[in-house]
Amino acid sequence: MIELKDLSKTYRSPEGEVVALEGVNLRVEEGQIYGIVGYSGAGKSTLVRCLNLLETPDAGCITVEGFGTVRISQGRCFFRPESTIGDAGENTGMETRLTEKHLKALRRDVGMIFQHFNLLDRSTVFENVAYPLKYTGRSKAQIRARVLELLKLVDLSEKVNAYPSELSGGQKQRVAIARALANSPRILLSDEATSALDPEATESILKLLQELNRKLHLTVILITHEMAVVKAVCDRVAVMEQGRIVEEGSVYEVFSHPRQPITDRFVGSTSGLGRINALMKQNLDFITPDDTVIKCVFSEESVGEALVSDVSRRFGVNMNIFLGSVEILQGKPLGGLVLKVEGPPEKRLAAIEYLRQHNVRVEVIEHG
Ligand SMILES: Nc1ncnc2c1ncn2[C@@H]1O[C@H](COP(=O)(O)OP(=O)(O)OP(=O)(O)O)[C@@H](O)[C@H]1O
Ligand SMILES: [Mg+2]
Repeated sequence: MIELKDLSKTYRSPEGEVVALEGVNLRVEEGQIYGIVGYSGAGKSTLVRCLNLLETPDAGCITVEGFGTVRISQGRCFFRPESTIGDAGENTGMETRLTEKHLKALRRDVGMIFQHFNLLDRSTVFENVAYPLKYTGRSKAQIRARVLELLKLVDLSEKVNAYPSELSGGQKQRVAIARALANSPRILLSDEATSALDPEATESILKLLQELNRKLHLTVILITHEMAVVKAVCDRVAVMEQGRIVEEGSVYEVFSHPRQPITDRFVGSTSGLGRINALMKQNLDFITPDDTVIKCVFSEESVGEALVSDVSRRFGVNMNIFLGSVEILQGKPLGGLVLKVEGPPEKRLAAIEYLRQHNVRVEVIEHG
């Protein structure tokens, strides 16, 4: 488990102040793949960099199960080990200043990968992966065995003597993942690790992260600005905006019932139904004063019901389907339809109300 409490960070420069994190609270359970999405500048990188203390927050608490709690006050870090939990669950340990030794222990627990891989260009794949194993008390033979084991894990054994310039983007990211896992961390932070990759390489890296999550019981915190990535692999997701987490939930929850406008935009960006907004802008001729265009999202409670034909009969309105999609998220169906509802205004409104009462999320796109 990782828990962040009231984490804040402001960057100060001669040009002024930037509040990058403002009272962020977040809890990630062991073994989860946890997505954090947000537009550029939302504070995502700052958040993960604060989590492993690459960046020192101004204030807040960071608890990593199996390690302890770091409390930051006015930019100063204090540490309380976990091994001092009292009978009532309270932490009875002495708080001390955070030392280099504590930091090293934290970084061993928390590996990290980046968008641009950060490999050593003049070193081979072997040397890149071996790098974090230096000075850990292992013999040469032990290091060699560990590197080969890691390369096998990321399916890159045949590239052991290659240089980064001889690898594709996806292969470079595999090297970076092997390097991040060298000291067997329990948590992996991934900051836009697939943003520089083509769709095929993205898919294979995401698959690898899922595999590692299962095989090694690795907790993954995955920063991205692409909702498709969240949809593909995450269990839960948090949406960040201007240094705050504005929405959080299971991936299914967030996709089926987004509560914030920004989340709605993110969700729309990966849904086939998102295209309707562009379509509507192009051509409105087909909508008459007797029409309403609605976008409906059917979640697991409503997806099986024959609601469209039911509504049509019940209220005497015509329902024309413009666009439709269905997908399986976290093993559950999530369906969407864009419909043109034709009929007298009061009947159209009654039909929409009826759909809403039956757990369909209805957005009115155009009311003719
Ligand atoms: N070292 C720094 N000095 C000053 N300001 C910074 C620094 N790092 C980040 N910022 C500012 O803090 C805010 C949050 O930046 P951050 O890099 O965390 O965003 P992000 O969500 O990761 O964005 P992106 O998607 O573009 O990577 C931005 O306004 C950024 O300009
Ligand atoms: Mg970033």
